[in-house]
Amino acid sequence: MQPDGKPGVRINPSILAADFVNMQAELARIDGADFVHVDVMDNHFVPNLTFGPQMVERVQATSPVPLDVHLMITNPDRWAPGYAELGAASVTFHLEAAKEPVALARRLRAIGARAGVAVKPATPVDGLFDLLDDFDQILVMTVEPGFGGQSFMPETMPKLRRLAAEARTRGSSVWLQVDGGIGESTIAQAAEAGADTFVAGSAVFGADDPDAAITRLRDLAAHRH
Ligand code: DX5
Ligand code: ZN
Repeated sequence: MQPDGKPGVRINPSILAADFVNMQAELARIDGADFVHVDVMDNHFVPNLTFGPQMVERVQATSPVPLDVHLMITNPDRWAPGYAELGAASVTFHLEAAKEPVALARRLRAIGARAGVAVKPATPVDGLFDLLDDFDQILVMTVEPGFGGQSFMPETMPKLRRLAAEARTRGSSVWLQVDGGIGESTIAQAAEAGADTFVAGSAVFGADDPDAAITRLRDLAAHRH
C-alpha cells in the first residue's frame, strides 16, 4: 500500500484515446488515475503524429493528475528536457532513439522529472540491467508504438519478467511500466510478470465510466502484483 491507501500499482490512462477537442472534459473523467499518459509522436520515430510541447503545456495546466509523458520522437536528447521544464512529472524517451540515454536521464532528473526509458517489443533489455539506478521507470512496450487500440503482445512478457527479477536482485525501486493493449483481459498477466505501472487508452476512455474502469483495472492488477 502507498501512504494514500492505494495499492502499489499505478493506472495511467492514455489521452491518445480521448476526444482531442474536448480535452478538459476528458481529463476531468479520469481524476481517479495516478498519472495521465501523454503520447507525443513526431511522424518520424513512429508513423503517426499527435502533438508537441504547446499542447502538453495546456494539458499540464488542466489535468487533475500529474503527467506521464511518453516521447515517441527522434532526437529526444534535444527535445525531452523541454517536457520536464514545463512540469511533467515523468518524461520517458525511447532507448532506440537516444544518443546518450544516461546523460539525458540525468538532465531530466536535474530538472525535477522522473526519468523513464522505453523499449519497443523487439528491443532487448539486457543492456539496461546495469543502468537501473539511472532511471525511475522503464517502459516495456506491449505493442509496436504508434497507435492505440492494438492487441497486447504476450511475447514481451519474458523480457518484463527478467527485468523484474533483475530489479529485485539489485534492490532497485525502478517502476516497470507496460503500454499497449492493456485492459481487463490482459492486465493481470502483465502484473504477474512484474509490471507495477499500467498505461491504458481504449480500455479507460472507451468505457462508459472511465473512473470505474480505472478502479477495476487497479483491482485486477493489485491481485496479481
Ligand atoms: C501506443 C501508445 C499507447 C497507446 C495505448 O504507441 O504509446 O500509450 O495510447 O493505447 P491502448 O491502451 O488503446 O492500446
Ligand atoms: Zn504510450
